[in-house]
Amino acid sequence: MCMPTSWRLMLLLAVAPAVQAQATTPAQLQRTYDAAAGTPAQPERGRLFFTQRHGGEWSCASCHGAMPTVAGRHVVTGKPLDPLAPAFNPQAFTDERRVEKWFRRNCKDVTGRECSAAEKADVLAWLQTLR
Ligand code: HEC
Repeated sequence: MCMPTSWRLMLLLAVAPAVQAQATTPAQLQRTYDAAAGTPAQPERGRLFFTQRHGGEWSCASCHGAMPTVAGRHVVTGKPLDPLAPAFNPQAFTDERRVEKWFRRNCKDVTGRECSAAEKADVLAWLQTLR
């Protein structure tokens, strides 16, 4: 199909930001969660949140491991999971939509509700201390 160049450019400009908006970095996400939380993230609090149970059957560590620098294993399906710590998995925390989807699902499974911005900030801050 033939389209005038100016149209194609307009189409590109209209579509590009929508696609790009999902791409992010762990540092950028950290700033987003910190700002939403309104308090500085605390890595140690993140570690405790991650490794403790919250009244339910599982902790985050049940699937991701207490030290998520290595592959985890899904507690139900046995499926291997890539390490969550960004230093050990270049894909981790690089797609905002994906991160939000899994935070939503996993926080509900573990705590019965969604995680707060402060909880996400703490967990991500802790994960970034792992090297
Ligand atoms: C029942 C198993 C299970 C539990 C418990 C669990 N997760 Fe996950 N999590 C997964 C799976 C499966 C994925 C997708 C990973 C993959 O495709 O390799 C995932 C992915 C994620 C991601 C996306 C990372 C990325 O950038 O790709 C985040 C963030 C995450 N989990 C955080 C948590 C937190 C925080 C908790 C505790 C509140 C938690 N998870 C508990 C199974 C679990």
